[in-house]
Amino acid sequence: MNQKKFPLIIKTQAGLEEILAGEIKQYGGHDVKTLRRAVKCMADNNTMYKLNYCCRTALRVLKEVHDFEASDEESLYQGVKEFDWFSLLDISRSIAINATISGSKMTHSHYVALKTKDAIVDKFREKFNKRPNVDLENPDLRIHIHITGTKCTVLTDSSGDSLHKRGYRIRQGEAPINEVLAAGMILLSGWDKKTNLLDPMCGSGTILCEANMIARNIPSGYFKNLFGFMRWKDFDKEAWEKIKEEENSNIQPLACKLMGSDVSMRALSLAEEILENTEFDTDIELKQVSFENSKPSDTEGGIIISNPPYGERMKKDDIRAFYKMIGDTLKTHYAGYEAWIITSDSSALKSVGLRTSRKIQLFNGPLECRYVKYELYKGSKKAKEIS
Ligand SMILES: C[S@@+](CC[C@H](N)C(=O)[O-])C[C@H]1O[C@@H](n2cnc3c(N)ncnc32)[C@H](O)[C@@H]1O
Repeated sequence: MNQKKFPLIIKTQAGLEEILAGEIKQYGGHDVKTLRRAVKCMADNNTMYKLNYCCRTALRVLKEVHDFEASDEESLYQGVKEFDWFSLLDISRSIAINATISGSKMTHSHYVALKTKDAIVDKFREKFNKRPNVDLENPDLRIHIHITGTKCTVLTDSSGDSLHKRGYRIRQGEAPINEVLAAGMILLSGWDKKTNLLDPMCGSGTILCEANMIARNIPSGYFKNLFGFMRWKDFDKEAWEKIKEEENSNIQPLACKLMGSDVSMRALSLAEEILENTEFDTDIELKQVSFENSKPSDTEGGIIISNPPYGERMKKDDIRAFYKMIGDTLKTHYAGYEAWIITSDSSALKSVGLRTSRKIQLFNGPLECRYVKYELYKGSKKAKEIS
């Protein structure tokens, strides 16, 4: 049966829009268009479930349910109220509202969220003399209102918790990289899932976890128990179970070596615990060694993807010396490898002293970062140093 299609806005981190658009097409989204920190597409219910389950670079999948024009609080209130909220909600369910505004006379997002909430609860009160509750932490239905100029769009959040919370992280390490960013970095590198992959400053092992899931085709939502759409009135459990079953049937054995090392034993123990928690920890090697003292465990070459410590915790001179050490170690020991490094400290990157063959702007939370590639040639075509 052909299901009804509707517009979705899928949020991501800046710099990952094209990668996300590719994932959305792969999993059945139509009319895919990249926006800033988001991608828009048309999809049916099953595709919406699949995008939540499979898109590694998606943070939230929002469904557009209503739009209208409003230039002030009163027209906003009326516009929200005219929608058939009874089709999505009943009194026993709780709600939370998020508002984002640009170029509108209404400038306070908190007030817009409050006015939206008033319109919804008044609609229920007028009909039933009762109203749904607000639960900011754990609502049944998270509603987003986006206002651009006078255009107001109401969206429902089918993800619930942000999708970067994959469900495998048992506790936080020091400065872990966001899972969506880690997956985006691996996909941006064009890794073929067959070449051996190493993160020599792996910390709690996020890059290794994401690489492991990518290489084995484990859906990004495999370890998650709850998605927002499961608490919706129209949740189709049968369709959801079928989608999971289909996607899980593509899980395959690892066809390469995944390796992680770190100078800190504490970080490595956490990486080991987290990887074990994924049940797919076989064939992943973890080793305690500082990068400067490390050597590849084989001579086949491979790919390095890593986020070394950022500048904030280190003194300027130390950080220069540290990045010089990274360059020297890559040049001396890792011929035949390609190395991808992300850092928010672009001046420290100069101390690496190797020519970059690609430079991509990404964000780690609010921090603007450079994601750079070095090609470390074997034999006569040695790593090109900056002259
Ligand atoms: C920004 S953290 C990496 C976080 C990691 N991507 C995660 O998601 O948990 C940087 C890591 O580099 C490690 N490190 C610092 N100096 C090192 C060195 N000389 N050799 C190897 N690892 C080092 C730290 O112990 C820390 O775990």
